Amino acid sequence: MRVHVTRPIPRAGLELLEQAGLSYTVPEAEGLPDRSELLRAVAGCTGILSLLTERMDAEAMEAAGPALRVISNHAVGHDNVDVKEATRRGILVTNTPGVLTETTADFTWALMLALARRVAEGDRLVREGKFEAWGPLMLLGTDLAGSTLGVVGSGRIGWAVARRAAGFKMRVLLYSPSRRLENPEEFGLLRSAQWVELDELFQRADFVSLHPPSTPATHHLVDERRLSLMKPTAFLINTSRGCVVDEQALIRALQAGRLAGAALDVYEHEPHVPQELLELPNVLLAPHIASASQATRSKMASLAARNLIDALEGRPPEHMVNPEVWRG
Ligand code: DGY
Repeated sequence: MRVHVTRPIPRAGLELLEQAGLSYTVPEAEGLPDRSELLRAVAGCTGILSLLTERMDAEAMEAAGPALRVISNHAVGHDNVDVKEATRRGILVTNTPGVLTETTADFTWALMLALARRVAEGDRLVREGKFEAWGPLMLLGTDLAGSTLGVVGSGRIGWAVARRAAGFKMRVLLYSPSRRLENPEEFGLLRSAQWVELDELFQRADFVSLHPPSTPATHHLVDERRLSLMKPTAFLINTSRGCVVDEQALIRALQAGRLAGAALDVYEHEPHVPQELLELPNVLLAPHIASASQATRSKMASLAARNLIDALEGRPPEHMVNPEVWRG
């Protein structure tokens, strides 16, 4: 049984593959693998440990051939995997939820605070040698205390983001179609939390943080119309997936001053970042690093490896995306 790991991952994951006696290949270079090299590398594999940067589509599955039994994605999001096609071929797809929840929520708050208090603008000003004196009107930001946070998506990460709002004395509006939390008993922790419809959330929130899964239903969930519902003093934060936001509509809203600012960790055509976003001072841009802490990336690598090993050794993996193909 041979496994291909599409890009270098933390050592903890590779060690598990070694301990399981699996022979694996992994490129030495950290960058994006060339597509043709990737297709050659997966040929004959029983398992692929993929990253969100690699498209696992019919072409990749075809290139791997009939031995392929599992695609273990090193991410909670799996929009890079054609799950329908994998299911049709009887290939199990797994992912890594849970282990990155708190780290991603922390980073969402890092963006929110930095955006509200203009941290990146201040950093640029100092580096450019423009800090001449303290000024009562210099880089005035927005207070979080007393304001309203709208959280779109009440899965693990959305809830972890919402939970933190209590410490900042913010009101919380939550939206998810199911109005369900993984641990409903936790709802009481946030005395101010309220389930609302999506449009109401966009109308009332001072900070809107996006955490829905990437599905056809959430594609451009934040479009021209929804952006027009937001207060001109409100901020948008996206640490979910780029395609949830109509990026061009967001650019137009920001340029017209219909929105106070945005913080983005993900992009519609990642890694491409439109020039217009680069030029807007009230936009904070991060390179998809919300889960990037040393401990969490090690846990993601270990979980992805464990999912893959379990699938190949006949144990049901902890996190199956298409459990219907599991035959043991
Ligand atoms: C994920 O897991 O889906 C994140 O985007 C990267 O950690």
